[in-house]
Amino acid sequence: MSDKEKEGLDVSEAQIAVHWQEEEYFPPSSQFIAQANMTDSTIYDRMSLDNFPECFKEYADMLDWYQYWHTTLDTSDAPCWKWFVGGKINASYNCVDRHLKKYKNKAALIFVPEPEEEPHLPITYQELYVRVNEMAALLQDFCGLKAGDRVTIHMPMTPELPVTMLACARLGVIHSVVFAGFSGRACGERISDSTSRLLITMDAYYRSGSLLEHKDKADEAVRVADEEGHTVEKVLVWQRYPGKYSSKTPLVEGRDFIVNDLLKQYHGKRIDPVPMPAEAPLFLMYTSGTTGRPKGCQHGTGGYLAYVTATSKYVQDIHPEDVYWCMADIGWITGHSYIVYGPLSLAATSVLFEGVPTYPDAGRAWRIAERLDVNIFHTAPTTIRMLRKAGPDEPQKYNYHFKHMTTVGEPIEPEVWRWYYHVVGKGEAAIVDTWWQTETGGFLCTTVPALQPMKPGSAGPAAPGIHPVIYDDEGNEVPAGSNKAGNICIRNPWPGGFQTIWGDRNRYVSTYYARYCKNPESKDWRDWPYLPGDAAMQAKDGYFRILGRIDDVINVAGHRLGTKELESACLAVPEIAEAAVVPRVDEVKGRVPDIYVSLKPGYSASKEIEKKVENAIAETIGKIAKPKHVFIVPDMPKTRSGKIMRRVLAAVSNNMNVGDVTTLANPEVVEQVRKMVQGDAPVAVQQDGPEDLKRFGQE
Ligand code: PRX
Repeated sequence: MSDKEKEGLDVSEAQIAVHWQEEEYFPPSSQFIAQANMTDSTIYDRMSLDNFPECFKEYADMLDWYQYWHTTLDTSDAPCWKWFVGGKINASYNCVDRHLKKYKNKAALIFVPEPEEEPHLPITYQELYVRVNEMAALLQDFCGLKAGDRVTIHMPMTPELPVTMLACARLGVIHSVVFAGFSGRACGERISDSTSRLLITMDAYYRSGSLLEHKDKADEAVRVADEEGHTVEKVLVWQRYPGKYSSKTPLVEGRDFIVNDLLKQYHGKRIDPVPMPAEAPLFLMYTSGTTGRPKGCQHGTGGYLAYVTATSKYVQDIHPEDVYWCMADIGWITGHSYIVYGPLSLAATSVLFEGVPTYPDAGRAWRIAERLDVNIFHTAPTTIRMLRKAGPDEPQKYNYHFKHMTTVGEPIEPEVWRWYYHVVGKGEAAIVDTWWQTETGGFLCTTVPALQPMKPGSAGPAAPGIHPVIYDDEGNEVPAGSNKAGNICIRNPWPGGFQTIWGDRNRYVSTYYARYCKNPESKDWRDWPYLPGDAAMQAKDGYFRILGRIDDVINVAGHRLGTKELESACLAVPEIAEAAVVPRVDEVKGRVPDIYVSLKPGYSASKEIEKKVENAIAETIGKIAKPKHVFIVPDMPKTRSGKIMRRVLAAVSNNMNVGDVTTLANPEVVEQVRKMVQGDAPVAVQQDGPEDLKRFGQE
């Protein structure tokens, strides 16, 4: 066996998606089942469509309410669903205050700084309570914030981030957290879209061994928001090392304030949590779509919190005595739902890691797991592939034991899954492969770990209370369990689903509901299947396999990037006339962007121009969007009506069959581009390819 085969890297995702073989089942261990939160298979009957929507009362009853609701689901403004109407609740109270009686001296968060010589920092529920209150007092008194105001938070993975989020939630202030790896410009665009009065940031943070400057991004963000006609009143800057300013960027007099200094005035202050209507927005989370600017997914308070609490309990199997570590960044939905709100609502201990899991070496993650005795582990296939590549034998050197592991964000290849199971999980942990999205707030498809066996490469059946259907392009239902690919939809609303796109209800309706809506006037939820935008197929056993996006969104290392966003960044480079971005299959990151550009007359191709394109992307979006290649092509393959054939470029990037190109306006360009990308010698062309690539660029 070659080394490559041993590692399973020879099995391309293309082969898996197209020639999907049934995988064997892995049953959960009896020890796992004996301690699991959910072992009662009647949950699926309880949560059947016959019992919808009242079945979700079970989830809402996991929370403390100031006032109980009178209407479980209000559909009067379909498809903007309102859950638990009439109820009053506060998310900060549910994640902090209510645990004090039993758990005040238990760690809510354990912060693990990237530098290994810095000690771990446990934060008890009492300490979290004090910090959240003091920060809420500052936001209320110093910044004048009140319920319904928006605040943008551009912070790295430090405890000050959940403290800030929970302080906002305490006041009913809507937070919009922007992933710290995003550029200042991306942050500024999100500030102006949400018209946030305030930006909260941090001076610096550690990543891969360096203390990265971060405050400079705030200046850029405020400038960009300004350009767009929105003025930020104040910028609050947390110090990564309290008492020391770690940034080289000066503070702007009258606008920028050090949070750690201001907090001294609020020492010991307590702020009563504001009882918020259940359907009041809790936060915005921006995500990429097909066209134009990122969309602010608006999540509500009561429904969202109920859904993430219940799924953290039943699917993540979190008990208060567990040590739970989700390696996602809080700047993404996974971090919101399954580092902060879900686990804390259950009084869990949630580990918060600042750095990258392969720094300074491939054993770092396992050292953390061993030292903290982590027993629930949660990460993305990209990270699993990265850890496997960097240190395939590392986990066995460390004495940790996971009872449960999660994978999220991308399809996981069965080979990679098996490494996760046997090597990382030591054959002891139950794995859940959870399929969901920023929009959906929580899991849509997954096994409930004590109830169903695992099947590598399959997300599992629908989560309790979620009722998927697969439609073909004509709107016919693909028979359940037929192994035929189509567009997966969810028949029913569920409490975790987003409420709308901030400020753009039309886009919400047209993107997610218009395609399969049975009657646009209807107030009946049955007429409004939700379209997540993924292709999927369902096997006989009811398990779903997710095949990838059906739109022009690229899933890079589990992060969603809109191709149009990348293209408009390229067009900001003065030499560039046209740009087309396509996904390329990558062994570790799943997909990476390949960029094709053509130049304006008078310019010729150069390394410098390629570099400019790369820089423009880093500045506009962030380093996560870094392209694999920038190809400066003589011309783009185009239809006679002038449309760029992205499908053809995607085929070239992935050695797939380009199909019939004779009807193009400039068919000869295809061969020129192919040679540039693949070299002069013809390469073996796959007749078929992964579902998302086959569909890519086809409108
Ligand atoms: O294509 C699906 C893929 O990630 C998309 C959602 O991305 P985002 O909103 O950034 O949320 C990521 C974390 C929830 C989906 O439309 N995706 C997510 N989970 C899976 C997945 N693809 C396959 N298997 C999964 N488990």
